[in-house]
Amino acid sequence: MAHTTIFGVVLVNLLLQLQLVLANVPAVIVFGDSSVDTGNNNQIATVVKSNFEPYGRDYYGGKPTGRFSNGRVFTDFISEAFGIKLAMPAYLDPAHNMTDMATGVCFASAGTGYDNATSNVLSVVPLWKQLEYYKKYREELMDYLGQEKAETVLREALYIIGLGTNDFLENYYAVPGRSSEFSIEEYRNFLAGIAGGFVEALYGLGARKISLGGLPPMGCLPLERTRNLFFGGGCIEEYNNVAKEFNVKIQGLVSKLNDQLSGIQLVFSDPYDILSQIIQNPDLFGFTNAKESCCGTGYFEMGYLCDKNNPFTCRDANKYVFWDSFHPTERTSGLLVMGDDARGATRSNPEKVAEASAKAMEGGKKKTGSDAKARGQIPEGEWRIEKAEY
Ligand SMILES: *[C@@H]1O[C@H](CO)[C@@H](O)[C@H](O)[C@H]1NC(C)=O
Ligand SMILES: *[C@@H]1O[C@H](CO)[C@@H](O)[C@H](O)[C@H]1NC(C)=O
Repeated sequence: MAHTTIFGVVLVNLLLQLQLVLANVPAVIVFGDSSVDTGNNNQIATVVKSNFEPYGRDYYGGKPTGRFSNGRVFTDFISEAFGIKLAMPAYLDPAHNMTDMATGVCFASAGTGYDNATSNVLSVVPLWKQLEYYKKYREELMDYLGQEKAETVLREALYIIGLGTNDFLENYYAVPGRSSEFSIEEYRNFLAGIAGGFVEALYGLGARKISLGGLPPMGCLPLERTRNLFFGGGCIEEYNNVAKEFNVKIQGLVSKLNDQLSGIQLVFSDPYDILSQIIQNPDLFGFTNAKESCCGTGYFEMGYLCDKNNPFTCRDANKYVFWDSFHPTERTSGLLVMGDDARGATRSNPEKVAEASAKAMEGGKKKTGSDAKARGQIPEGEWRIEKAEY
């Protein structure tokens, strides 16, 4: 099974968290922030960008795509693990048409949050607007596949919602406004209210399999450690606690909505524990550095500050938990999705990724005992593994 066991603690990776509930998935549809943006911000006027070197240096063809990573992001691994495609196309990217997007698409925008005020800080795509784009996509999919087929795909698709970190770190704790309006508990409830409303809106549009993500141990991001440098550069425990409490709130929301919305399969995808274990015991996972990031000095560089001419940038990102001061490396993302089975699984080791995905899929199938394809629920055409052109 795709569990990671260290010190007697069983860690369940994101893929297994999903597999327990979701059998087969014809498309992956993503909403969120830079943890999952695959290039939408390239198309908008904002400073939050990463479509230049050294971003993407371990991606297919060493190409920067707008992913905040040296390679792929975790939703790319999830799409691959479900046997769909290796990379999620960004909705706003004119290079993609419906042939690419019928098996999954990404509406995420780096720098955004649940709160409209968060997306305003750096002029990125707010969550409500991502939903508007999704509505447009639905129409386009109906035109492309025909209504009946499109409705099946939209119902059986896996929807991934991944954001929230920026609401706290880019907004609440960084700029005046929300912190004078809301206590931290009130703000957490405010965000959870928006998350709940978003899930209900998706459900209302026909979505059934939805993964709502929790927050990572955000006090351990290299940028936050740097703020804490005067006190030794440890993790900022206050931020980690905020993340843990937010996750408890989201978990409660997930159980409530599972009770309330008939037929929904809502999963809470929790990256907190597995990421904490990686950060606390990097050597057990083959990393040598969990404190500084690979790019630049490792203390603060991200976005435009992560510059290809910086002589301090590390050579082998696979040895680092973090790629820039705010985002994991591709290898960390692979581990998050597939756990221990993906040790060493990266772009440079595609067989290993495929093997780990296959194993995880097997675990999920056994658990659910179902195969939607065999039941004939999924249109045959949607099951081809796309040769993504990236
Ligand atoms: C999308 O682009 C591909 C490659 O250029 C092409 O083969 C395909 O027909 C296009 N699909 C649509 C729906 O335009
Ligand atoms: C965010 O902005 C949109 C568009 O103006 C609005 O419809 C929505 O109610 C706002 N959300 C919140 C929580 O204020």
